[in-house]
Parts: sequence; structure tokens; C-alpha cells
Amino acid sequence: MSKVGIFGAGWVGLVTGACFAELGHEVVIRDVVPGKIESLRAGHVPFHEDDVPELLQKNAGRLSFTLDVNDVADCEFLFVCVDTPPTYSGDADLSRVWTVIDELPELSGRPVLVMKSTVPVGTGEKVRAGLDQRGLDHVGYASNPEFLAEGHAVRDFMSPDRIVVGAFEAEDGDAVAQLYSSIDAPLVRSDVNSAEMIKLAANAFLMTRISFINEIANVCEATGADVVKVAEGVGLDSRLGPHFLRAGIGYGGSCFPKDSLALKQLASNSGYHFQLLSAVIEVNELQKRRVVGKLKRHLASLRGKKIALLGLAFKPNTDDMREAPSIVLASRLLAEGAEVRAWDPVVADGKALPRGVVIVASVAEAIAGADAAVIVTEWSELRSLASTENRDSMANPLIIDGRNLLDPDEARLAGFTYEGIGRPETVLPATTTA
Ligand SMILES: NC(=O)c1ccc[n+]([C@@H]2O[C@H](COP(=O)([O-])OP(=O)(O)OC[C@H]3O[C@@H](n4cnc5c(N)ncnc54)[C@H](O)[C@@H]3O)[C@@H](O)[C@H]2O)c1
Repeated sequence: MSKVGIFGAGWVGLVTGACFAELGHEVVIRDVVPGKIESLRAGHVPFHEDDVPELLQKNAGRLSFTLDVNDVADCEFLFVCVDTPPTYSGDADLSRVWTVIDELPELSGRPVLVMKSTVPVGTGEKVRAGLDQRGLDHVGYASNPEFLAEGHAVRDFMSPDRIVVGAFEAEDGDAVAQLYSSIDAPLVRSDVNSAEMIKLAANAFLMTRISFINEIANVCEATGADVVKVAEGVGLDSRLGPHFLRAGIGYGGSCFPKDSLALKQLASNSGYHFQLLSAVIEVNELQKRRVVGKLKRHLASLRGKKIALLGLAFKPNTDDMREAPSIVLASRLLAEGAEVRAWDPVVADGKALPRGVVIVASVAEAIAGADAAVIVTEWSELRSLASTENRDSMANPLIIDGRNLLDPDEARLAGFTYEGIGRPETVLPATTTA
């Protein structure tokens, strides 16, 4: 068993640390935010992610949390799991990565610095040069990108589709691969540049599928086809598969938007115009805004209209609001003069939302007297939205289902005007109870 140091107690760092501890390794997690470390020491996880609290508690004996970089000095592996947000130009901001390199304590033996943060291709070469410049040429380097998805991050870490390890020296790659030896998954060994590109390309392809099915949905709306049926029929083709073919109001989150921009910029900086990715990004931006058009079609002007936003997090089972479509939607609705009441089962405050959005504690409160309810995040709590009780509590029983969560026929039979994304037009007349 090894001693693993981790830089960053965010989603990736904490999940990585908890899972390595579960695999039997000794783990030291270092962050720079005192409040985060204090709350972790007190047994509180600073974000909502299933299974992480239990894993941290179960493996408490093998896990420690620190602000002091010297506490990782005797680790055999140093995982970099710091955030790499976009700069104003869209390039990845690597300043936190460079801070980690600058702060590394005296290290003996041959520890391996392992990059788990998502970084542009070429970063490993620069970090290698930076380490050498600091006299740390005895420190190995490996790229080990992380593919976990928030909401089921522990499952993704423990049962990954693959583990990717890119290294300059085979012995460093071997050592990192050995850390995962008790996980049964295909191992992809590569050079560092290719490992970095695998992560960016995988994300870009997933986003491409999402924007693709969203464009198909928009054409379905124009032609009378049902995108849910279309996706089912397309996804059963074994050459294509069913994943990421769910039409909706677009992707968000801490990874897809920033990683697509970073890859687009990486290509541009290298003199290549990545046209397909540019279109994927633009389709996603427009998709978030289509909900406003749908609302206007039913309600005409939105000035003074009460709109319930149901679900705020960028996807269910997380409280992550980074680049959540709800933020753009709320801004657009406020700009149209609507009154916005919002509900989410885990996002309890509206810090990430524009001023003017009222956060309420229940779905019932959000929709009472509302002119429309918009499903923004497919929380399972919303599956029962189309009840007669809810219909009667709304001023106008209109549901815009941004995630195609509900059965359109059931919603219409319950007396709602229902519109999803890429689904056939409403057949029952709109009803208005006032
Ligand atoms: N969140 C995901 O679903 C996901 C999935 C795969 C890959 N990634 C990538 O992993 C990286 C981390 O993402 P995240 O979502 O965990 O970010 P995060 O913002 O949740 O966490 C990053 C943490 O790093 C800490 N930090 C910053 N500088 C530090 C330093 N010098 N020393 C120690 N800690 C420091 C921050 O305080 C923060 O707690 C990013 O590059 C991201 O793109 C994220």
C-alpha cells in the first residue's frame, strides 16, 4: 500500500482521496481554504455527493486533511486535483497548478507527481520542465485524467470504463497503474500528450452527442417527430449506443463548458479552427434560451408573469451550480420582466443566481399561483409534478419540461398544457384556471 498526497479537496480530490483510502492506501489531502479543511476534519463534506461522506467516515483512520504542504513531503504520489477554470480568453487557467509546483516541499526518493486536473495538451511537458528547473528532476510525472461524473462520482472512480496513464518514464506509469491494481478496468498506457488529449476529446465527443440530439430535437419540433422515440431508435444501433442522446436545454457544469472552450482555444492557439466544436458550443448556448421562446409562445409577454424554475443544479444529485443552465435561464426571464421563483432539493441558496430570483423551500411554494413551471433539472422529486393538486394551485397550468422528464400524455390528461423538448405539439387545448 502507498502513501498518497492530494492537492485539492474539491470534487475530484476528495473523491480520489476517499476512494484510494477505501482501496487501502494512506491519504493526505491538502487544500488552501481553511474552512474546507476544518469542516472535513469535523466530518462534514463541503458539497453534495452521494457516498463520499460514508467513505470518508469508514476510512477515517487512513485519511488526514491539512493546510500544510509539508505534510505531503513523504508521499510516494502527489495527485494534482486543483481547479483549472477558464480565463476570459477561454484558455484553461493553470495558475493553481503552477502554485502547486512552486509550493512542493523537499521531496526524497522518487515520488510521482500525477496530474488529475484537466489540462491542455502540452501541460505535462511544461510541468516536467518546471520540476527540472526547481531541481526536482528526481520527481516523476504522470498524466492520469479523471472521468468521474458528479452525482455518481464514487461509482465512476471505483468502476471506471478505463484508467488512462500517460508518462514520460515507464517506471512512473507502472507505479501509477499499480495504485489502481485492485480496480478491474481496461488500462490505457500512453505518452503524456495523448493522455491529456484523451480527456479533452472524450468530453468534446460527449458534448457533441448532446448538441447533436438537441439539434435533432429542434428539427423534430419543426417537423412533428418525437425526439424521445428518435433517440431510442438511434441509440439501439450498436455502432452508436444510447448514451448522451437525451434532448434537453443543454449541458452545464464545471467541466463541459470550460473543457470545450479550452480545447477550442488549444486548437486555435495551434493554428487550427475546430469548426465542429465551435458549433457544439453555439448550439448549447442557443438551446438554453429556447425555453424563453416556448414560454412566450404560450404566455405572449413575460412581463409580470410568475415563472417557477424547478431544479437549479446543473444536473441531479449534485449541488454544483457551475455553469448551470438555470443561471442563464433565470437571467433571461428576469430581463423579460418575469417574476422568478426557484426550487431545488439541495441548492439551498441563490448565491449563483442573478439578484431578483426568489428561492423557495418546496415545489408547491414555487408553483403556487404560477403562470408556468419550467423543469430545469431532472430531479426525481419532479416526476410527480403533473398532479391535479399542482394543476389547481397554478394560475395557468403550463409545464415546459426542459429535460423531457414527464410523460406528455399523462401531463395533458391531468389538465396541463405541456411542452417538452423535441416532442410533438400539445394536442389538448390549454386550460386556464384563475
Ligand atoms: N468536477 C468534476 O466532475 C470533474 C471531473 C473530471 C475532471 N475534473 C477536473 O478536475 C479538476 C478539479 O475539479 P474539481 O471539480 O474537483 O474542482 P473544485 O473547484 O471542486 O476543487 C478544487 C480544489 O482545489 C483547491 N486548491 C486550489 N489551489 C490549491 C493548492 N495550491 N493546493 C491545494 N489545493 C488547492 C481549491 O481550494 C478547491 O478546493 C479540474 O481540472 C476539473 O476540470 C473535474
